[in-house]
Amino acid sequence: MISHKTVIIDNGTGSIKAGFGGEEFPHYVFPTVVGYPKEGKKFIGDQLSKSKTKLKLVYPIKRGLITKWQEMEELWDYTFKQKLKVEPENARLFLTEPPLETNENREKKCQVLFETFGLNSLALNIQPVLSLYSFSKQNGVVLEIGTVIPETINKLHLGGKDITKYLIKLLNEEKKEEKKLCFEGDWDLIKTIKEKMCFVSTNPNIEDNKRPLKQLTKTFQSNNSTFTLSKNRYLATEILFNPQLIKRENEPNITSLITKSVEQCDERIHNEIYHSIVITGGSSGFNGLKERVEMELKTLLGNRSFNVILPVDTTISAWVGASMLSVAQNFQESWFTKQQYNEMGIQGVHKRFYHQF
Ligand SMILES: Nc1ncnc2c1ncn2[C@@H]1O[C@H](COP(=O)(O)OP(=O)(O)OP(=O)(O)O)[C@@H](O)[C@H]1O
Ligand SMILES: [Mg+2]
Repeated sequence: MISHKTVIIDNGTGSIKAGFGGEEFPHYVFPTVVGYPKEGKKFIGDQLSKSKTKLKLVYPIKRGLITKWQEMEELWDYTFKQKLKVEPENARLFLTEPPLETNENREKKCQVLFETFGLNSLALNIQPVLSLYSFSKQNGVVLEIGTVIPETINKLHLGGKDITKYLIKLLNEEKKEEKKLCFEGDWDLIKTIKEKMCFVSTNPNIEDNKRPLKQLTKTFQSNNSTFTLSKNRYLATEILFNPQLIKRENEPNITSLITKSVEQCDERIHNEIYHSIVITGGSSGFNGLKERVEMELKTLLGNRSFNVILPVDTTISAWVGASMLSVAQNFQESWFTKQQYNEMGIQGVHKRFYHQF
C-alpha cells in the first residue's frame, strides 16, 4: 500500500507557505510570483532572486483570490516537485482558502488539482478559521486584517500592501520631484523599511511628545540611498485604525470590525468569543498593534472583559492550523479523494466542504 504524504500549502497573496502535516513550521516560504525574462526560462517564487535581468512579474493571487491560473499552477508544481519533492499522485493536499471564496474558484481549484496534477486527496478550509485552530480554539473572532468567525465573515480590503503604498505616498510628500519613489521599482525596498521600522502608536496625537525626536528617528541604509523616518514610522500604519486616510470613507477600522463581527453572532457566545480575539496575518507583526487594539476595544466595550491573542509568528498561523487539523483523528474522514471526485463530479466539492463555508 502506498502511504500518502500530507502536504500543507497556505496559498497567500504575498507568499506561499508549504510543508508537511503534523509539523510545527512550514519548510518553505517564498513569494507568490512568477517572473518572465525577455527571453529564456521563467523564474518561479524564490528563484526570482537569481535573475540577472529585468523580469515581467505576474502575481497570480489578488487579495486572496486566484486570478491567474497558469502561474498558480506553475507555483503549485514548483512547490510539489522542486521544493517538497512529492508527486501529487502520492499526496493528500490541505490547501488554505481566503474568506468568501467563490464557488467558481473552488471548482476550478478542484479540477486543476485532481485532473491536471492527479492529486490523491484534497482538503480545503479558510485561513482565519485555521488560524483559530492553531490556538486549539473552535470559537473566537479572528482579525486577519479581515475578520472571520465561523458563522460570520466581514472582509476589509486593507492589508500590508496598502500600508506599503501609503508609506510610499508619505515619503514622497517629503521628497523633491526628481527623487520621488516609484511604486514598481522601489516596492520591495519600502516593504522592507515598513517591516523593520514602522510601528503602531497607542496615541498618534501625542506620539511626538512622548520621547525626544532623536529616539523616534531611525535610519535605513540601502545600496544606493539612505532613508530617515520619524513620524512616518507610525503614521503609515494609521490607515488600519483610520481608513479615511486613504479615502476608504465607508470602511470600518479594524477594531470596530472585531466588535461588528462579534455582534453578528449569537449573543450567547459573545462572552466566549470576546475572550478569544486572535489577531494574525503578517501585518499584525507591527509593534504596538495589540496594545492599540486593546485600548480601542476598552473604549468601545466599556466594562466587558476580553482577551486579545497574538501569535509569535503572525505569518504562519493559518499554515500551522492546517497542519494540526490534517493529522487530527476526527478529521481523517474529511479528505475529498480523487475517487470521490470522479464519482460525484465537480459539484462534489461543495457537498464535501459546504459545511465549512
Ligand atoms: N514583522 C512584520 N511587521 C509588519 N509587517 C509585516 C511583518 N512581516 C510581514 N509583514 C507584512 O505582512 C504581509 C504578508 O503577510 P502574510 O504572509 O500573512 O500574507 P499572505 O498570506 O501572503 O497574504 P493573504 O493572507 O493576505 O492572502 C506583507 O505585507 C508584509 O510586508
Ligand atoms: Mg495569508
